[in-house]
Amino acid sequence: MASFEIRKTPGDTAWFRRDRFGMFIHWGLYSMPARHEWVKTREKISEEKYDKYFQYFNPDMYDPREWARQAKAAGMKYVVMTAKHHEGFCMFDTQYTDYKCTNTPAHRDFIREYVDAFRAEGLHVGFYYSLIDWHHPEFPIDHLHPRRDDPDAEQKSAGRNMHVYAEYMRNQVTELLTNYGKIDILWFDFSYGADPNAPQWMKGKSAPEWEAEQLIALARKLQPGIIIDNRTGLEQDLWTPEQYQPLEWIKDKDGNLVTWEACQTFSGSWGYYRDEMTWKSPEMLIQMLINTVCIGGNLLMNVGPTSRGYLDYRAEAALAAYADWMKYNSRSVYGCTQADAAFVAPRGTRLTQSEDGKRLYIHLFEYPYEFLQFPGLAGKIDYAQFLHDGSEVLYDEKTISHFSEGAASSDDLVAFRLPVVKPHTLVPVIEVFLK
Ligand code: GLC
Repeated sequence: MASFEIRKTPGDTAWFRRDRFGMFIHWGLYSMPARHEWVKTREKISEEKYDKYFQYFNPDMYDPREWARQAKAAGMKYVVMTAKHHEGFCMFDTQYTDYKCTNTPAHRDFIREYVDAFRAEGLHVGFYYSLIDWHHPEFPIDHLHPRRDDPDAEQKSAGRNMHVYAEYMRNQVTELLTNYGKIDILWFDFSYGADPNAPQWMKGKSAPEWEAEQLIALARKLQPGIIIDNRTGLEQDLWTPEQYQPLEWIKDKDGNLVTWEACQTFSGSWGYYRDEMTWKSPEMLIQMLINTVCIGGNLLMNVGPTSRGYLDYRAEAALAAYADWMKYNSRSVYGCTQADAAFVAPRGTRLTQSEDGKRLYIHLFEYPYEFLQFPGLAGKIDYAQFLHDGSEVLYDEKTISHFSEGAASSDDLVAFRLPVVKPHTLVPVIEVFLK
């Protein structure tokens, strides 16, 4: 049985771990400058100048049904979109600010259309909601804030009342969790300490400042079962390592295995970044997914749509890479997790195993040509095939006559016989039905 004792939390995480693969969408005013979603603070852009984006935001080609079709084809089973990012602009119709999409030339509630479109394709739907807000007048200036270096920053920040802002968040979360039907995931972002190099009056912000206990209680009351991440500073359902590849299952402070989700980008930015050139290769993208599932995690892969509202050709190509591979190989991902400790991955491979323990998947990152040697597997195989085409993979057990003296050959060895030329799929998978 590849079943692990995973820390229980209030949210309904069972479907989430089964589904394994989701789409992250970072979309907001920052898609117009197209220089990273942090552009306002990186370049310390003035309010007046940033307002231009608000005045001209008009994604005339926004068709979330198209995004949803591509997400589904890529094998993604759930989606999380920015309802509000750090810039403070709201992608939904809210009563609590005028800084929202329905007041741009677009006059549309982007979140409503998004929810409807992805739900229609059968995906679970979530919201990203930024705790940080660089537009709200009551959000105190700190070392991450665009106004941090203004000569009068301290005065400007002095009278700001964090309680008012925390209440604003509760109001908006109430709107998001009442006006759009069942919401499966709420992805808050993020908490941080003070910067030791910044002036003393600039404080970090975490659970107490966000009034996170109240915020979370409210969300759970409105949407029982909702999955909430840890970035309010309070541990909830979801651990979220970002922009790096964990090497083993994520654990909490007490050493318990947890539900976790790596979030990654196709290139080095979350928001649309026209001139960013570090786009990952199709092979890397597939490997990132497998590398995550083989240690019990989910992958939330990001797209940053353009300000016209469509997915850039590079993002579409990356999604197509997933679609090509997942069309044939998704069985090694859905409902799969880390393999039992009894199976040790041979060099150049990654293992996953179905939760009922009956199927073992060997992902060939390095194609071994002709023989894949797998110690420890003798006597355990009922049948083996390539996953992508269902063609039988023959194997020899125990002492392998082909191997000359001195080569690995033992009582527990299995040697799979593979075609010399790697099959036509980016990462071939051997599907082993265990006895
Ligand atoms: C971060 C960044 C951000 C991005 C997010 C995704 O903490 O601030 O721009 O939205 O992580 O995980």
